[in-house]
Amino acid sequence: MIDDDELYEADELYEATLVSAHADEAEATAEAGVRPAKLDELIGQSRVREQLELLLAGSRHRSSPPDHILLSGPPGLGKTTLAMIVATELGVALRQTSGPAIERSGDLAAVLTSLGPGEVLFIDEIHRMARPAEELLYTAMEDFRVDVMVGKGPGATAIPLDLEPFTLVGATTRSGLLTGPLRDRFGFVGQLDFYSKTDLEAIVHRSARILGVEMTDDGAAEIAGRSRGTPRIANRLLRRVRDFAQVRADGVVHREVAAHALSLYDVDAIGLDRLDRAVLRALVESFGGGPVGLSTLAVAVGEQPDTVEEVCEPFLVRAGLLARTPRGRIATAHGWRHIGRVPTPGSFAAAMGDPLVETGDDVLGNGS
Ligand SMILES: Nc1ncnc2c1ncn2[C@@H]1O[C@H](COP(=O)(O)OP(=O)(O)O)[C@@H](O)[C@H]1O
Ligand SMILES: [Mg+2]
Repeated sequence: MIDDDELYEADELYEATLVSAHADEAEATAEAGVRPAKLDELIGQSRVREQLELLLAGSRHRSSPPDHILLSGPPGLGKTTLAMIVATELGVALRQTSGPAIERSGDLAAVLTSLGPGEVLFIDEIHRMARPAEELLYTAMEDFRVDVMVGKGPGATAIPLDLEPFTLVGATTRSGLLTGPLRDRFGFVGQLDFYSKTDLEAIVHRSARILGVEMTDDGAAEIAGRSRGTPRIANRLLRRVRDFAQVRADGVVHREVAAHALSLYDVDAIGLDRLDRAVLRALVESFGGGPVGLSTLAVAVGEQPDTVEEVCEPFLVRAGLLARTPRGRIATAHGWRHIGRVPTPGSFAAAMGDPLVETGDDVLGNGS
C-alpha cells in the first residue's frame, strides 16, 4: 500500500521531471516569452481558431461581450494562451484565477463584483471549483447578477448585486467532470486537440527565433517529433536542446544535437518520457497487457490516478499504444511492440489483431 504522504512525494518528484505536461512557476516565466499574443500568431488548431475569430468578430460588430467560452483539452495545448488572446483581441483586461483557488463562494463574489465592463474572467481548472461557488456562477453567467447571502439560518437574506457584463473563459483538462448546468452556460466550447508534427515544427522554429537559437530544419523536425503533440513540451525540449547545443556542441541545433540531447533526457523517439513508458511497461509486464483498472495501474507506477489519466493517457491513446475499455486499460499490439515485446497468446492485443487504433494525424511523425 502507498500512503498519502508517499503519493504526495511522488507527485512533487513528478512535477520536477522533464516531460510533465503541466507547467511549474519557473517554466511559466520561460513560457511567457514565447506565448503567442494574438490570434494570427497562433499556430495550428485551425478549427478552434476560426470559430473564435467569428465569435470575437460578432461581438465587436454588436459592441457587446461575446458568449462565455469553455476550452478543454490535455495540458500544454494552449488553453491559457487562448484565454489571454481573447482578452487581447477584445482590448479588455484579463482577470485570472483557478478552480482550486476559489474555496468559498465569497471569494468568487469578490472577483465577480470587481470586474469592469466587458472584462474577461479566466478560471483555469474550472472543474475543480467548490460547488457553492459554482452555483453562484450560474446566475453570474446567465443574468450578470450574484445573490450574496447575509446572515445565517432563518433570518438570512439574499441581496442581489448587479455585475457588469463580462465574458467567462473556463479551461479544463477534464470536460467530462463538468456538471451539466455549468457546461450548458457556455455559449462556445472549444476542444483543443494534439498538434500535428508540421504545426509543432513551426512552433519550434518560432520559439527558436524568439530565443535567438540557431536551428536547422532537421533539428526542428527532431524536436517536433518527440513533443507528444504538445507545444509546451516542444518549447521545453527546445530549451533543453539549446543548453546542450551551447555547452556540448557549437550552439547550432541540428538533428544529431537534438537527438543526442533528448535521449540524454530520457525522451524516446516518439516522445514518450519515463513515466509514459513505465505505464506501458507495467500494463504489459505486470498485467499481461490488461485490462486493468486505472487506480491499480497508477499504484503500479507510483503515481496518482489523475496524473496517469490526464497527463499520460491522452497521448498514449492518441498514439494508438493504449486503449480505454469499459473493463479497464489495455495495451494495443502497437503498445507491446513499442517496449520491444510481442503480444502473448491470450492477451487482448493478440486477440484484437494488429494495431487497434489507427491514428489519423501524423502525430508520431513517422510519415505513415
Ligand atoms: N497554438 C500555439 N502556437 C504556438 N505556441 C503555442 C500554441 N499553443 C500553446 N503554445 C505554447 O505552449 C505553451 C503552453 O500553452 P498554454 O496555453 O499554457 O497551455 P495550457 O493552458 O493548455 O496548459 C505556451 O507557453 C505557448 O508558448
Ligand atoms: Mg494553462
